[in-house]
Amino acid sequence: MKRISRREAMKIVALAGGSILLPVGLQYRGYAQIANGTVAPFTLPFRTPTVLNPVRKDSTTDYYQIRMQKAQVQILPGRTTEVWAYNGIFPGPIIKQRANRKSIVRFINNLDENTSVHLHGMASLPQYDGYALDFIPPGYYKDYVYPNSFAANLWYHDHGLAQTAQNVYMGLAGMYIVQDDEELALPLPKDNYDIPVMIQDRQFASDNSLIFDNQGQTSVMGDTILVNGVAWPRMEVANRKYRFRVLNASSSRAYRLALSTGDALTVIGTDAGLMSAPVNTQDLRLVSGERYDIIIDFSRYPVGTQVELQNLPLPNNTSFANTDKIMRFDVVRSQTDNSVVPSTLRNVEFIPESAAVRTRDFLFELRNQMWMINGNGWDANRIDANPQPGDVEIWTFRNESSGAFHPVHLHLIKSQILDRNGQAPFPYERGNKDVFYLGENETIRLIGRFTPSGKFMYHCHNMVHEDRDMMSQFEIGQNGINPMSALARPLPPPPL
Ligand code: C2O
Ligand code: CU
Ligand code: CU
Repeated sequence: MKRISRREAMKIVALAGGSILLPVGLQYRGYAQIANGTVAPFTLPFRTPTVLNPVRKDSTTDYYQIRMQKAQVQILPGRTTEVWAYNGIFPGPIIKQRANRKSIVRFINNLDENTSVHLHGMASLPQYDGYALDFIPPGYYKDYVYPNSFAANLWYHDHGLAQTAQNVYMGLAGMYIVQDDEELALPLPKDNYDIPVMIQDRQFASDNSLIFDNQGQTSVMGDTILVNGVAWPRMEVANRKYRFRVLNASSSRAYRLALSTGDALTVIGTDAGLMSAPVNTQDLRLVSGERYDIIIDFSRYPVGTQVELQNLPLPNNTSFANTDKIMRFDVVRSQTDNSVVPSTLRNVEFIPESAAVRTRDFLFELRNQMWMINGNGWDANRIDANPQPGDVEIWTFRNESSGAFHPVHLHLIKSQILDRNGQAPFPYERGNKDVFYLGENETIRLIGRFTPSGKFMYHCHNMVHEDRDMMSQFEIGQNGINPMSALARPLPPPPL
């Protein structure tokens, strides 16, 4: 791997705990010679990541173990690619869990890097939330406890301070799906027709090694689109409905998904679970960290039809020859379809504006060549907001720039967009979410209930911005559990 700012990242880690205000050179570095075209889109077969089995189960809990390690994996034809991977597979294994069963996941660090594991979208206790300074150093392990209190499409990924972009880019990400009885009782497509879709972009050198270039701390924009670790895959489908749990796990790139046929995508779920009712949309924007649960009905097409999942243009995303393509569905067989998309999916509670006890404002901007929130960078000793447990608040995010978009992410809570630039949000955004597309010159307002107590991070999910330095924290109530109160321990671990 080609490292761009390793020395600077180390400096940031050394300074962790204080405010870090280092100048950022924002010049465009250009791209190294790339082995573009070594794989033609829609030639490699689609696959889904392995599902991880628990090591052990008891009446309340499933126990899992994941080793973070270097591995050589076949991504492009020819030479293998070194990744830093959960259990050595890229992307990491999928964990599937039932709501309200507990998971204890032991992460063992066999890498040479500091890591921290965050289960994005889970309402974890502070000490199990992957706090950016709560490192699992090399040769250490940590057991994370997850309550799985609601059904949603989540993902786990690295969150090490000032190293998140690089660690996730090198492979440290996987999906985590929680389902409950209510969802399983719906007649939606299931099993082989319920498909995880994790989208990431990468750049490869001519020897197939990964190139990590954050273009002077702005963004990482790969020229190769991977779905579940496969470049532009081709998926054979039957002419029936499929459910796709789509996650944008890219470092920086946003996507605008659409079908080449111009037909609608049916959105049934947002980041934090099913919507109240399905929403049809021609296209769908998706920033880093966002998830949408989508139904595509291939019964509209005769056997033999090829349907591309495309990526329409969006500002501030670098385009390359094939970044307008994601994957292709080839309708190869006919099949009867008993699945139905019900007109009512779930009773989602929309919090009325009148329930809010206060409003807070957050300005996301480039200031003094640093990515900042209200003029501040990361400071482990600073708390930006202190709601009391149970308070409903409206948070306003402002982006006055046309030069960048920001995926704003709040840990712990799910919230709902009230409006964007004073207008209603996109119909497909009207559900519980934890990442919000704060586009160029946009102001969005969201409403959420802050509970339970504890100190949690919020940040831009462009991981390059997050690392330098668009990340901060809020604390609910007082005297919550210290996020640093369950530190990693040295190997070897006791039996799980
Ligand atoms: Cu997916 Cu704090 O991040
Ligand atoms: Cu998160
Ligand atoms: Cu940002």
